[in-house]
Amino acid sequence: MTKIERVGVVGSGLMGAGIAEVSARSGLDVLVSEVNAEAAEAGRKRITSSLDRAVQRGKLAEADRDAALANLRFTTDLGEFGDRQIVIEAIAENEQLKTGVFARLDEVLPAGAILSSNTSSIPIAKLAAATGRPEQVLGVHFFNPVPVLKLVELVPSLATSEQTVERASAFATEQLGKQTIRAKDSAGFVVNALLVPYLLSAIRMYESGVATAEDIDNGMILGCAHPMGPLTLSDMIGLDTLKSVADSMYEEFKEPLYAAPVLLQRMVDAGHYGKKSGRGFYAY
Ligand SMILES: NC(=O)c1ccc[n+]([C@@H]2O[C@H](COP(=O)([O-])OP(=O)(O)OC[C@H]3O[C@@H](n4cnc5c(N)ncnc54)[C@H](O)[C@@H]3O)[C@@H](O)[C@H]2O)c1
Repeated sequence: MTKIERVGVVGSGLMGAGIAEVSARSGLDVLVSEVNAEAAEAGRKRITSSLDRAVQRGKLAEADRDAALANLRFTTDLGEFGDRQIVIEAIAENEQLKTGVFARLDEVLPAGAILSSNTSSIPIAKLAAATGRPEQVLGVHFFNPVPVLKLVELVPSLATSEQTVERASAFATEQLGKQTIRAKDSAGFVVNALLVPYLLSAIRMYESGVATAEDIDNGMILGCAHPMGPLTLSDMIGLDTLKSVADSMYEEFKEPLYAAPVLLQRMVDAGHYGKKSGRGFYAY
């Protein structure tokens, strides 16, 4: 199996920045694409401050931070991905946008390259169908914050080859130091299929006035030893992302437990996306 040396990441928001950071820290050559120079600069800043925090906490040597930064390049042109061996797409959770990116990556990437998505809920089969190489397309689903959380869900579609899954698995475990689980191409995979109904239930509980946001969160922290409560976690995930994931899962299963509560919809309408916009269930 050829070792992966050149990685492409599409999008440098919350997740793309984390994936790019972890790849660069693992000594890989990382090219990140963004929509425009401003968004690319914001991605670079996000990565730089995360690396700086790791140095301050004594988890990363200054020389290793500098080496990681030297492994990173940014572009606004996917046409520059012609030498990438694996690409991880991490743009907004929108099927139309993602299929557009996959069709373009298929034109640009060399034969044999792996096309992967960090999607939380969009069927991998739909992304694969936008390309002429569905056997090389799979879901590689990281968790936030990527530098901290060990898990990667590997999600083959019905068309993905076993060789692609094994290559992606070796990349995630041996090169990035992650641990993997495998899930079928079913909206939400393993973790979100369990987590999202829980988060939506907490939002419904808050919406119906059963308890304050703080008390709902403290209930789960103090009573169940969760590291953070469901409303804080929702703010951290991003309420726009949470709503999109819930919508995809509702679309797939038509189960009321996946339906976004009205309050979540209104908060997203108002631009209250949680931590990333400065306001969600809490103020930041
Ligand atoms: N937020 C989470 O906790 C989390 C966890 C796991 C997976 N995910 C998934 O990861 C993906 C990204 O989520 P996020 O939270 O990082 O979103 P985000 O909104 O923080 O970032 C998305 C980024 O993609 C960029 N972008 C949009 N279109 C692009 C294009 N065509 N080319 C290049 N860049 C483009 C945007 O400018 C933005 O910077 C989604 O599919 C989401 O479901 C999110």
